[in-house]
Amino acid sequence: MSNPAMSTKEEKPEEQKGNQSSWKDFLYNPRTGEFIGRTASSWALILLFYVVFYGFLAGMFTLTMWVMLQTLDDNTPKYRDRVSNPGLVIRPKFMDIMFNRSDPLKYKQYVQHLESFLQPYNDTEQEKNDLCMYGEYTVQDQEEVKRACQFKRSLLGECSGLVDSSFGYAQGKPCVLVKMNRIIGLKPGGDPTINCTSKRESDLAMEYYPSEGRIDKMYFPYYGKKAHKSYVQPLVAVQLLLTREDYGKELSVECKLRGTDLRNDDDRDKFLGRVTFRVKVTE
Ligand SMILES: *[C@@H]1O[C@H](CO)[C@@H](O)[C@H](O)[C@H]1NC(C)=O
Ligand SMILES: *[C@@H]1O[C@H](CO)[C@@H](O)[C@H](O)[C@H]1NC(C)=O
Ligand SMILES: *[C@@H]1O[C@H](CO)[C@@H](O)[C@H](O)[C@H]1NC(C)=O
Repeated sequence: MSNPAMSTKEEKPEEQKGNQSSWKDFLYNPRTGEFIGRTASSWALILLFYVVFYGFLAGMFTLTMWVMLQTLDDNTPKYRDRVSNPGLVIRPKFMDIMFNRSDPLKYKQYVQHLESFLQPYNDTEQEKNDLCMYGEYTVQDQEEVKRACQFKRSLLGECSGLVDSSFGYAQGKPCVLVKMNRIIGLKPGGDPTINCTSKRESDLAMEYYPSEGRIDKMYFPYYGKKAHKSYVQPLVAVQLLLTREDYGKELSVECKLRGTDLRNDDDRDKFLGRVTFRVKVTE
């Protein structure tokens, strides 16, 4: 029976037994009252430490957030460019406006785009907005809810889509809407107007709506999406009075913001106060 192989075999269950009891002791030792190697009071202290520690972190975070939020204004973005110069954009939103005036399918996309863009300018909708003083800023810094000044699409005459549902495209005299990007708080000095020119032998004739391409001061300042809910941007419509001689030629048209202190000649930003697009009409 003193076979060494046997003895090792008998030892094995002993070892396992010992392991098990030390594991049990490790989990809970009834002699010392320790639980996973620590006494209950030691565990309680550790728990207390973490509760206080994380509580403190959460408190710090909340306080910092609260202080940060106090410094923010609902209506004005905190960080803005040093100089607020608006860019110009056109509608329909295409850099190349090319179509065959005899083929409605070719200019359909432009007309649809203009029509949907002008929906908020619907006369009946705009009648809910205020009639403001011409030539004066509509300053309303104190009011909680800002009033918006009327801009009816009928102001755009031949380019309103009301007189001519093709916006001039069927006559080969397309309308393009020009607008300034919104900048909160901007009050353009002087009398801003949109002036478009096209390089060709003689100046291309154009018709502006409202007359002289004027952008009235009453639409400024803008107070932001949240406070100024019903605000609509003023528009200038430019109708390019192309003649038969222009058909088939690609014309480049540049529109600039003039008569104001806002920049329109930045070498790096081609859209600051100006916009260029190309037009080609065939028949
Ligand atoms: C313009 O459309 C008309 C009618 O569809 C067609 O007869 C004419 O050839 C087109 N012109 C060009 C330049 O494609
Ligand atoms: C726009 O105005 C016309 C009448 O001028 C009206 O029939 C139409 O329903 C209006 N559209 C919207 C979206 O209010
Ligand atoms: C646009 O600018 C040109 C060049 O300065 C000027 O000759 C023209 O009268 C202006 N047009 C309008 C409508 O202001």
